[in-house]
Amino acid sequence: MFDRLKKLPDDPILGLLRLYREDDSPDKVDLGAGVYQNEQGQTEVLGAVKQAEQRLWDSQQTKVYEGLRGNADFNTAMTRMMFGADHPALNDGRIVTVQTTGGSGGLHIAAGVLLRASPGVKVWASEPTWPNHQPLLSSAGINIETYPYYDASSNAIEFDAMLEGLQRAERGDVVLLHGCCHNPTGADLSREQWDRVIDLLEERGLVPFIDVAYQGFAEGIDEDAYGIRASAARLPELVVVSSCSKNFGLYRDRVGCTSIVAQSNEHAQTSVSHLANVTRRVYSMPPAHGAEVVQIILNDAELTRLWLSELGTMRDRVNNLRRQFAEMLATKTGTDRFAFIAQQRGMFSLLGLDKAQIQRLRDEFHIYIVGSSRANIAGVSEANLDYLTDSIAAVL
Ligand code: LMR
Repeated sequence: MFDRLKKLPDDPILGLLRLYREDDSPDKVDLGAGVYQNEQGQTEVLGAVKQAEQRLWDSQQTKVYEGLRGNADFNTAMTRMMFGADHPALNDGRIVTVQTTGGSGGLHIAAGVLLRASPGVKVWASEPTWPNHQPLLSSAGINIETYPYYDASSNAIEFDAMLEGLQRAERGDVVLLHGCCHNPTGADLSREQWDRVIDLLEERGLVPFIDVAYQGFAEGIDEDAYGIRASAARLPELVVVSSCSKNFGLYRDRVGCTSIVAQSNEHAQTSVSHLANVTRRVYSMPPAHGAEVVQIILNDAELTRLWLSELGTMRDRVNNLRRQFAEMLATKTGTDRFAFIAQQRGMFSLLGLDKAQIQRLRDEFHIYIVGSSRANIAGVSEANLDYLTDSIAAVL
């Protein structure tokens, strides 16, 4: 029967990792997948993670199954990190969280529960959004619609068009939002814009579904949670999916979580029974290691301090690179068309290059960026800045 299958092209993001690894040019630059790299182009294990792993190695007595909801201490610590330890919704017992296999697993589990709560539910996603949102959510059975978000000609959020687009959503529809570090645009809602979006969600009876894969990479852990915390303070219901891939550097350990904020403790408890039940039907339970590591860090003041300082170093480096990259591009191209890069946040910006220019960068200059012209700024370094900006100027 497998002879009936047709071979598929590589994944548009993860396929680049393979191409980059196979390229033996000494000049090659990886600006593809959303993976942090240091000045030497390495993605090191964080010091706080190493120490937590050592403690885990010393203390772990069993590898017996975790429950369906994953690690309870992890779930509590992550809920506090996203919502704040004293959030009224938390004190009222309205928030439930289950551990998931990374953010992708979290999105899938969330989709399963959304469909049970509201069969045929429509989810509105920003145009553009993370390229895997649509395939992942639609393969889980969700109908996706899009709302305008980013104007590529001005390299900025088209906020009025976004609000107007969301007027098309109907009561009970779900709106997918990026908690911070919008992927792929790097253009985040300001606090005032979040407040206005929440006004609209409230007026129209829409439910936010916040994907937060980069908490801590824009301004800081608490600052980047503004949208989540404000939504949970004002709205009766909310779904949040979080990933520890980037902020804890636990990419391959696949650790994340899904939270539901419900109208009451009773509804929250019902919701978590469904989160666990959907999990059982998809992968039974999430892998334990990464969640153990995260909970050890978040439940230890010294390790938390170390982790926050390592996260701060990653954030500051990306923000500095943004400034340097924008300045150097201005010098090399003699235009200010790339100035927006310095204003945006997180790992990504859309460079505004066309398909032929992106292909030339790859074929002639060994520079790998995603086909939408999304570049991972964390792959820029002082060592490759000159080469990178010369190459971009050459293909313009
Ligand atoms: C990305 O957007 O590059 C990352 O989130 C990696 C992925 O899974 O796509």
